Amino acid sequence: MQPSKGLARRARELSPSPTLALDAKAKQMKRAGIDVISFGVGEPDFDTPAHIKAAAIEAIQEGFTKYTPSNGIPQLQEAIAAKLQKDNGLHYEPNQIVVSVGAKHAIFNALQVLCEPGDEVLILAPYWVSYPEMVKLTGAQPVIVETKEENGFKVTVDDLERASSSNTKLLLLNTPCNPSGCVYSREELEQISRFVVEKDIWVISDEIYEKLVYGSASHISIASFNSDVYDRTITVNGVSKAYAMTGWRIGYSASPKNVAKAIGDFQSQCTSNATSISQKAALAALTGTQEPITAMVAEFKNRRDYMVARLNRIDGVKCQVPDGAFYVFPSFKSLLNRRFKGQVLGSTAALADILLNEAKVAIVPGEAFGMPGYMRFSYATSMEKIREGLDRMERILDSLEV
Ligand SMILES: Cc1ncc(COP(=O)(O)O)c(C=O)c1O
Repeated sequence: MQPSKGLARRARELSPSPTLALDAKAKQMKRAGIDVISFGVGEPDFDTPAHIKAAAIEAIQEGFTKYTPSNGIPQLQEAIAAKLQKDNGLHYEPNQIVVSVGAKHAIFNALQVLCEPGDEVLILAPYWVSYPEMVKLTGAQPVIVETKEENGFKVTVDDLERASSSNTKLLLLNTPCNPSGCVYSREELEQISRFVVEKDIWVISDEIYEKLVYGSASHISIASFNSDVYDRTITVNGVSKAYAMTGWRIGYSASPKNVAKAIGDFQSQCTSNATSISQKAALAALTGTQEPITAMVAEFKNRRDYMVARLNRIDGVKCQVPDGAFYVFPSFKSLLNRRFKGQVLGSTAALADILLNEAKVAIVPGEAFGMPGYMRFSYATSMEKIREGLDRMERILDSLEV
């Protein structure tokens, strides 16, 4: 029999990741022989480039299989510092970089060393599913700031002003954004940077989709504007999305020295180093040819264009053209009062259930991202599957009764 004093409150109150849950359900259906098409995936469908795999194989063969310094191997910290200088105009010493088990872990660490009970953290909806739960795990309070579709799902300084209080400690910023795909411009980020300096708060800038931007959009790092904002920003990035390396689990944070020291100390007591072999692979990714990214981005752009055009042709669906990441986030609001088999749909969560059960198409409803009425489609899947998945969805939507 188990002790009467059960799980800790933080475990009881934790919600599992809804996107991972949907992905698991879709995979389970596939294993059961059901032909499911998933628009739920958050990872490139491309293979990790060969030279990166080769570096990992070499690491294994050379016996590079032991503990490394907890913050990461010096060559990788140096390569990350060089990348941040070259791509982002950010100067960090290698000892300001902590290599972690994915960007997710880097964000978790940063929140743990900065936030505590009594603090409020501004999270912009639609948000990445893990932000509110990670904030709650620090004891701080997530404050959800809703963005508007007509503003391209981007927050304005007015929105931030209204949501902030004397307890606001930190802003979680994500550009390019999951799930909306929006990419903040230089001017928009400059305004936000003035706000955070004025309010005297920290920023975690999650830049994991940095390389996935299309057309004339470009990625800007908020910490690059001036020393005031640099001193209060933790820049987070990693190799997962840019190099199709989600399973290798390498991400990193770049922070002011005292924050980097705290993150390093925290990590040293929790996980120690990220996998030695993956660190060698990440080193090859950052220092080797960047050609695979160009090819991947070109293919993602084709898929995005096709998906947006098709979604906008469906009666009742409205889809903006996102500038980055590999998601589209169309509105289904006009369809929610329609009926399926006599029942009013009512919500995008209900519609997502119907689409999975009836059409065998997995799509994450906006509820998961704090924005009901919308659905997130990942186009990190083949054109053929995108076509077939949208055909299936359209058949169900056509059958809805008005
Ligand atoms: C916005 C955002 N940040 C961070 C992550 C985590 O990335 P990683 O695989 O490097 O942990 C993801 C993954 O889906 C994401 O969408």
